[in-house]
Order: sequence, then C-alpha cells, then structure tokens
Amino acid sequence: MDVARKGEFEKIIAAATAAPSGDNSQPWSFIVRGNVIEFHYRPELDHPVLNYEEGGTLIALGAALENAALEARALGFKPSIAYQEGGPCVAKMMLIAGGSLDAADVPLHAALEKRHSNRKAYKKAPLAAEHRAAIIDPRHIADGLALSLVEDPGAMAKVSRALTTMEETALGNQRLHELFFADILWSDEDNAKGKTGLHIKTLELPPPARAMFRLIKHWPVAKFLGRIGFPTKVAETNAAQNASAAAFGVISAARPDRAAYLDVGRTLERVWLVATARGLALQIVTGLTFLARAIEHDPSVAALFDDEERARVRHAYATIREAAGGAGEPILAFRIGESDPPTLITARRASEVRFASG
Ligand SMILES: Cc1cc2nc3c(=O)[nH]c(=O)nc-3n(C[C@H](O)[C@H](O)[C@H](O)COP(=O)(O)O)c2cc1C
Repeated sequence: MDVARKGEFEKIIAAATAAPSGDNSQPWSFIVRGNVIEFHYRPELDHPVLNYEEGGTLIALGAALENAALEARALGFKPSIAYQEGGPCVAKMMLIAGGSLDAADVPLHAALEKRHSNRKAYKKAPLAAEHRAAIIDPRHIADGLALSLVEDPGAMAKVSRALTTMEETALGNQRLHELFFADILWSDEDNAKGKTGLHIKTLELPPPARAMFRLIKHWPVAKFLGRIGFPTKVAETNAAQNASAAAFGVISAARPDRAAYLDVGRTLERVWLVATARGLALQIVTGLTFLARAIEHDPSVAALFDDEERARVRHAYATIREAAGGAGEPILAFRIGESDPPTLITARRASEVRFASG
C-alpha cells in the first residue's frame, strides 16, 4: 500500500477510535487487507457483569463504524459495510473511490472530534423544535430500532429515577461496587495514557460529593452506609440532577441481536454528533438497562442479587419501557440538553492496527 493511501486508512481508523465505549474500554482492533478495514471486537475488555450478549462492546463497535464511514466519505471514499455473523471480526468496511459526504452529514463529520460525554448538571431548558427534529430524523435510525424522546417533566422524573436504580444497586452490591471503583482513574497521567476507566474529574462531582466518593470506595464503608439508606439518597439526588436535562432518549430494538447492537451504536453516534454540532451536551445513562437485561436473561448475573434487588431493577426497567412507548426492548438510554463544557476530555490509547498483505 502506498504511503498516501496508508495515511488515509490511518485517519479513518483514528476517527473510529474517537467513538464512545463503556468505561472507555476501547474494545476494538483493526486489520487492513487491501481496500478493506476489518473491525475486530474485544468483549473481554468490557464490564464482566453488564455486557449481556456482548451488547455494550457491539454498540461501541457500531459507533466506531459510523465515525469511520463519515471520515471515509470525507476523504472521497464510498464505504460499504458488511456485518459478519460470528467470530471476532464484526464488520468489514470496503473502501472504493468516488464517495463524498452528503451535505447533511458535513456538520456530523465536523463534530467527530468534539463529541464528548458530559456528566455535568444540564440547564433546565426544553429542547428547541429544530433540535428535536434533527435528533429524531429517521435517517439516523436503523431498521428494527426505535428512538423515543421523553420530554414531559413528569415522565422525565420517573425515567430519571428508574435509571439511577443503577447506582442504588451498585452501591449496595459488593461485586458491582468492586467493579465500579476498580474502573475509576484518579490521576491525570492515567487519562493521558488513554487507560480504560472513568476519570474522577469526568464524573463532575461537587467537592463534598467527591470527598464522600473517596470514602465509599471502601466496601466496608459502603456496606455500613447501605444499612442507613445512603444508596437511595444518592440515587434520588442524581435523579433530580439528571432530570434537569431537556430530554431523555431511549433506543429500543425489536429483536436484539449482533446486527441490532451494531445498529444501536451507529444510531447513537449519529444522534450524538447531531447534538454536538448543535451545541447540545449528551450523557449515556444506561447502566440500568444493561443490568436489567443481564439479570433477566443470564442466570449467573441474576445470582449476584437478592430478590429485592432483582425486583427493584425489573420495576425500573419496566418504567423505562413504558416511557419509551413499548417499542421493542430498551437497549440504551441517554440524557441530552444544554450545559457548560465537560471539565476533562477522555483520551484514547494508541489504536491497534495491522496492515496485512492480501
Ligand atoms: C455501551 C456504552 C455504555 C455506556 N454507559 C455509560 C453510562 O451508563 N454512564 C455514563 O456516564 N457513560 C456511559 N458511557 C460513556 C463512556 O463512559 C464514554 O464514552 C467513555 O468514557 C469515553 O468518553 P467520551 O464519550 O467522552 O469520549 C457508555 C458508553 C457506551 C458505548
């Protein structure tokens, strides 16, 4: 491959790796064979409890595919994507000459490097009609998926509290607690290296909450506080803060399978880029939908929880499904709205790319 072509493929892969992934796991690697980029996934890098059917990994790969397709078009290629049914290569992207960005995708491409998770408090302002129309544009939504926006304040309060059933459960469950705190990055050097995890600054905790956070990372402290209702207080506080967004979005799938998860990732990324291009902040808030589906379908996950925890999670998931209008199985939820910029941008590690012959 000539140097100029190699540089273009590297740009496309760099765009792919700017995609979101659960806890910044970056669960991907790439092999370039001729004019095809193979997208390989690495589910072992994702959460061992929440990643039911490797859904989280596949969603990250879907978002990476969407970014790569936008970059490829911007470079004058016509990308054609073929999903692969089994094995570690989840999709192949063939690049032929003669493509270009649609006018409507130009702002999405320009937003690619500016898309970040924003976990700050959002301003209490409704979604402008033109923003709403751009977000729910059917062009973003793959067949078999539905995107619902929940904007009514009463419904938002319910959805918000249902979603924070995640922290309520995680703070009271030793296994989830251990996994959550193992993934927190405390130093700026760790972020600069692009390590997997959530940097403490990206959690945007106000100073008193940050001090408390350092205490409850110790399980005996969390366990004690669990007995006096602390997890519920945290869930209520977070729910009130999250509900100040303009809307919650829920992406549901009629038939969740490998292709549908990839499509969820592609839809999510398009919506996020639209939001970014319009100056709107977005945060995925989806631990609960992942936990509920894992508990429902995977007995080894269900066994980590007692009856009360399982019932609480099931009830929260039903609330989200109802708010989303019952259109399939809710896979991923997010909040969207106006906010100040995030305190810290999450970095990426060097991407794993192999240029293979033939
Ligand atoms: C499948 C998936 C699930 C995620 N779940 C959450 C979540 O529940 N809460 C959250 O704040 N961020 C969540 N994220 C966002 C990631 O933490 C974030 O994308 C990653 O840390 C990289 O940061 P960036 O989005 O700023 O580039 C999720 C991302 C993906 C792809």
